[in-house]
Amino acid sequence: MKLIRVSNYDAMTQCLLDIFVKQIKSKPDSVLSFTTGATPKGLLESLAKEVNKGLDISKSTFCNLDEYVGKKSGIYSVYSFMHRHFYDVVKQHPKNIFMLDAEAKDKIAEIKKYAQILAQYPRDIQLLGLGTNGHVGANEPGTSFNSTLFVADSHESTIKATQNLFNLKYEETPRQMFTMGFKEIMVAECVILAASGKSKAEAVKKVVEGGVTKDVPASYLKTHKNFVLIIDEDSASLLSK
Ligand code: GLP
Repeated sequence: MKLIRVSNYDAMTQCLLDIFVKQIKSKPDSVLSFTTGATPKGLLESLAKEVNKGLDISKSTFCNLDEYVGKKSGIYSVYSFMHRHFYDVVKQHPKNIFMLDAEAKDKIAEIKKYAQILAQYPRDIQLLGLGTNGHVGANEPGTSFNSTLFVADSHESTIKATQNLFNLKYEETPRQMFTMGFKEIMVAECVILAASGKSKAEAVKKVVEGGVTKDVPASYLKTHKNFVLIIDEDSASLLSK
């Protein structure tokens, strides 16, 4: 594991931006898999600025880690988020954009379809955020490390986090998510987990100082050959050194 400690959210965003820009410049046909939420918002917005200043993403493939089961047009959906913060802002689009369909009637067929796409496009970078309970994507505590693309029931703390992030009523907050499993996450050349803020401090401590356990899904990432963990001072505040 490569641990990068930065001062705050903006420094984390800059660090992520440097990694993504370098990757795209050195390999224009990179396959980059994003997550959504508070963590990558800064990166997506900064990357959009770089694209609008001339960074060429026309040969790249962008995809996403997960998608809520719900309304595609809902403010919370990965589809809406990616459009709001990136695709609707950039003057040039990647060659391919892949996302799961929040409204898919046949979830099994949707999973099969996305699994085929992922098999065809091995990721150069998989970006991940960290759940306050240590989840990644929607691989909640207790999920098998052999998980493959599936529809997960969100834990209560995850539902609350989504509700707060998007200012939703509890009833309208999604309870399920399509998510890559560990199998799809771990095949990426490089796996990056980023965490910022005090709310992530306990989970960060468990990932960095604890063992590899299903109780803390993100701990499994430490077994990846090229795992980068980026944490800021607040999220690192409970570490013993
Ligand atoms: C959510 C999503 C993840 C996200 C994580 C952290 O539940 N399923 O894709 O990375 O939790 O979100 P945030 O960055 O808003 O803290």
